[in-house]
Amino acid sequence: MKEQLLQDGKAVGDRMSRVDGRLKVTGAATYSAEYALPNLVHAVLVGSTIAKGRIRSIDTKAAERAPGVLAVITHVNSPKVPGFAAKQNPDEPPTIGQPLRVFYDDKIYFNDQPIAVVVADTLERARYAAGLVKTQYAAEPHQTNFEANKARGFLPTQAKRNPKSPQNDYDRGQKDGYQSAPVKLEAEYVHESEMHNPMELQSIIAHWEAPDRLTVYDKVQAVKGTQRAFAKDWALPEENVKVIATFVGGAFGNGLHNWPHETAAIIAAKVTNRPVKLVLTREQMFTMVGYRPKTWQRVAMGATRDGKLVGITHECIGQTSSYEEFTESSVQQTRMMYAAPNVSTRYRILGLDISTPIWMRGPGEATGAFALESAIDEMAHLLNLDPLEFRLRNHTDTDPEKNKPWSTKYLKECFQAGAERIGWSKRRMQPGTLREGDWLVGYGMGVGTFGANRGVAKVRAVLRADGSVLLQSATTDIGPGTGTAMVQIAADALGLSPDKIRFELGNSTFPTAPSQGGSSTVNTVGSAVLAACTELKQKLQQLGGAAFAGAAPDQLTLAGGQLGLRTNAAAKASLADLRKQNNGQDIEVTTEAKPGDARQKYSMYSFSVHFAEVRVHALTGEVRVTKMVSCADAGTIVNQKTAGSQMIGGAIGGIGMALHEGALMDDRFGRYVTKDLADYHVPVHADAPPVEVFFVNKPDTLVDPIGTKGIGEIAIIGVAPAIANAIFNATGKRVRELPITPDKLI
Ligand code: MOS
Repeated sequence: MKEQLLQDGKAVGDRMSRVDGRLKVTGAATYSAEYALPNLVHAVLVGSTIAKGRIRSIDTKAAERAPGVLAVITHVNSPKVPGFAAKQNPDEPPTIGQPLRVFYDDKIYFNDQPIAVVVADTLERARYAAGLVKTQYAAEPHQTNFEANKARGFLPTQAKRNPKSPQNDYDRGQKDGYQSAPVKLEAEYVHESEMHNPMELQSIIAHWEAPDRLTVYDKVQAVKGTQRAFAKDWALPEENVKVIATFVGGAFGNGLHNWPHETAAIIAAKVTNRPVKLVLTREQMFTMVGYRPKTWQRVAMGATRDGKLVGITHECIGQTSSYEEFTESSVQQTRMMYAAPNVSTRYRILGLDISTPIWMRGPGEATGAFALESAIDEMAHLLNLDPLEFRLRNHTDTDPEKNKPWSTKYLKECFQAGAERIGWSKRRMQPGTLREGDWLVGYGMGVGTFGANRGVAKVRAVLRADGSVLLQSATTDIGPGTGTAMVQIAADALGLSPDKIRFELGNSTFPTAPSQGGSSTVNTVGSAVLAACTELKQKLQQLGGAAFAGAAPDQLTLAGGQLGLRTNAAAKASLADLRKQNNGQDIEVTTEAKPGDARQKYSMYSFSVHFAEVRVHALTGEVRVTKMVSCADAGTIVNQKTAGSQMIGGAIGGIGMALHEGALMDDRFGRYVTKDLADYHVPVHADAPPVEVFFVNKPDTLVDPIGTKGIGEIAIIGVAPAIANAIFNATGKRVRELPITPDKLI
């Protein structure tokens, strides 16, 4: 089958199954918590039970005496982490401020803050002993209620410092120019905090292989970033810290920051001189690894009676912790999506006595699109216009924010494909008028966009004795199928069958790559794969001598154990012979790829539109999403199968955002009441409708040579408003607070 691929043309675009799929479904893939190191011991965290104040005393005696316990570590006896004393570089990602310094002092910043770690020979014994730690607090009044504190929202420090910060106040045309329009609306939108709930819990095994050499098997999205962070913490040269994340069992951004439990495990390993495994509980996933922050938004919009936007004002306040300023790009889509002459955006953050949020799939834009795309639907209704037609009337063929051409934009193609597939023509203009028995039927749409980002990455390519090629890069794969896509890109680049190519990732000793985040891995690492494969072929070409001289790299192939030329079947050189010429060594290159200057001239975004068909029960308010169509302009689609799965996953995530997810705080204690999968609902199979996916699949070679733009984020951005708008169309009820639970509809 694989050789056939090459004969047919290209591996890129094929529906190739995941290269690691069998390992994953048979349990053969080793995840962070599954490394069976000799002498491994287990750690369990104890969390604070107040949200703010100080630890007056912490009694660990009973825990220390419990069977199998090796250590109980608190701020009283923790070894000093050298990096905790150092002044934080405020411009260092991922968030501005000082990340929580675990066991540093007696201060409590949020409820369930780690205050002790118990290490024992078994997990059960560690867990039992953790329950014996007794703490007395000097509690101080805490502030966890968003509404009560909303007025304290402030401009992020980085925006104050940098006038070009995307979080700064923005005005195009007249400030609040919507006011002059003949048709106006103003509305407020809220969503609760949403929690990362990948199947795999956050986990780490920390192992000091020598007093100055640390290895961590860690569930992270950035092995190099984690290596840098821990090297800094422990004042070690970077090469003394090794980070392994070969398999990641799902992540939505929770692995883009380093969290207190990681450092707690590293401290515990240091104290006990044993490899320490620490796996968060599902409950701890709600307090210790970030979340999509609760956000309040106000959109004011003005239009002419014939459906031209005059202006949009979008204000947003997102919550953060008291010790880090987490920001996101919630108002970005409003600046660039529609051809409104007057656009104002204002973004603020609100520090509360809670843990720090972090990016969660479609960070910022998914939140902002809920407000913007709901308001667009509300305006279309006011104007008595089809919301698809209203969007077309305000479509823009250049970026109105940056005044640059788009590198590519095929959003109209997405509109057309989606409208056909969902059956948009069945949609009634008058809400609440399409009924099947007790079920009200409605249709809605929401648009999404996300920057087609690209960073710098290196890839090592090695031609081995058996004619296979090994590729390595310190990227990660949190689920999209990165390894598979890279193999496909390499197969085309090398003219070599995919089963002869292996791509290794998730190891900080590999050539550098950024975190897997922001939908940019194929753009970034894929480009480096292409560059490394090209350089490898050029090296072989030199060894191959006269027969290959002057051939363009894309004419060279490595199939069948031979260096060959697509243009001349007679030109052949055995790879084994070329290797002999290389002193019998593997032929190897390490190549870097970085974005070009097209980035200055063009505005680069992926686009999506999601269409939802819903049925709302007229008597109970139960909502069923009965069909979804997600359409994406994401450039070249490297693998229709894995990319399609990614779109479906995003759509289901969006259903969760619209209908199910919301972490509710009991402000008396500053503690979540929904903190497991029984109380905090995510969509299950019964909630997941058939999702049809459509890709425009036109390359954008200004972004990168493969032509990809990124899928991960646009898969969810715009889904929640599509469902909210469909519910309005079904019922005539406009719900502006997510999640849209049945009580809000009856
Ligand atoms: Mo994501 S929020 O780019 O993991």
